[in-house]
Amino acid sequence: MNYSIALVPGDGIGPEIMVHAVEALEAAGDRYGHVFHTVELDAGGCAIDRCGEPLPAESLEAAKQCDAVLLAAVGGPQWETLPGNLRPERALLGLRAGLEVYANLRPAVLLPQLRAACPLKDEVLMASNSEGKPGFDLLIVRELTGGIYFGKRGRSEDGGTAFDTETYSRPEIERVLRTGYEAAMTRRKKLCVVDKANVLESSRLWRETAQAMAEEYPAVETSYLYVDNAAMQLIRAPGRFDVIVTSNLFGDILSDEASVLTGSIGMLASASLGAQAPGSSGAPVGRMGLYEPIHGSAPDIAGQDLANPLAMILSAAMMLRYSFGLEAEAAALEAAVNAVLDQGLRTADIASRGGSRGGNAALPEKIVGTREMGRAVLNAFSLSA
Ligand code: IPM
Ligand code: MG
Repeated sequence: MNYSIALVPGDGIGPEIMVHAVEALEAAGDRYGHVFHTVELDAGGCAIDRCGEPLPAESLEAAKQCDAVLLAAVGGPQWETLPGNLRPERALLGLRAGLEVYANLRPAVLLPQLRAACPLKDEVLMASNSEGKPGFDLLIVRELTGGIYFGKRGRSEDGGTAFDTETYSRPEIERVLRTGYEAAMTRRKKLCVVDKANVLESSRLWRETAQAMAEEYPAVETSYLYVDNAAMQLIRAPGRFDVIVTSNLFGDILSDEASVLTGSIGMLASASLGAQAPGSSGAPVGRMGLYEPIHGSAPDIAGQDLANPLAMILSAAMMLRYSFGLEAEAAALEAAVNAVLDQGLRTADIASRGGSRGGNAALPEKIVGTREMGRAVLNAFSLSA
């Protein structure tokens, strides 16, 4: 089968991690008989430098023509003084809004090999954990195209007062909740709605909407937490969570918190899904999706072969699964990532603190660079054939 993929390497470490995701996709295509047609798009800081705007209209148009979009990272200090609507981050927000990918799936799992990179104690990792071993496996479903990120904003004439607004409509809340419930049905059937309904009117609408939808999913245990409490529970007992559904801003914050618990933000992949939308390839695609690691462009380590390419590769795996329905292919890439961790390979960010043995890994840890890690994943993938 043929699939078309828009690639946005972006800025900072973006291009150097993207290479490895593309190689992994090619290897998967070779083994399983798919052709991935890729087209590289200008977006982010590099687009500002080349075309004067973070998301040129041609880039968004081209992205819409594809079956899915794979994005590395955008942004950097050289563009930080630009006005809000000209910053590289606008490319990200413009792609999310333009592709209407309203549901952002951010899985956070503690892999046994990375136990030593997780800052929590065993007793905390055991708390409320039905598995009986230290760990957690949760999925944050973040609303991605609404709320305060896209609400009315402005300044008073003298510039001394500023405002941003959180606005949500019932249908916007319903569609992301539905994604959360459907995910929960395939997992441990627990869903926690995170809001600030004790203070915010928009959160009260979230809660009302969730209470109504919960009745459609009697098999799922629905719970509700205020966001401040949720932030605390995440580090007190992450094992109690299965699926968390929340607003754009709360999801942004909680997913960074959750990523630290997995060992490093360099491990977290994400999928942003819209409604059903076929691309132009004619392939039987699922939902339009934008796939990206949740970390940023890390300009401080760019070009030094230090970045962790695993979240990028895992994002490509999510694309295979959610946009193309290629479950075996996705699982094979994930298994290859698992295998290199078993071999003890670690980029600096996921090395265990102060020890040469990582968690339950069978072999001593070896610190490697971006390229060696990327190559190792390819090797593990080809060995698994
Ligand atoms: C993320 C990032 C973005 C966000 C930034 C770069 C605009 O933090 O994807 O979590 O806030 O959504
Ligand atoms: Mg963020």
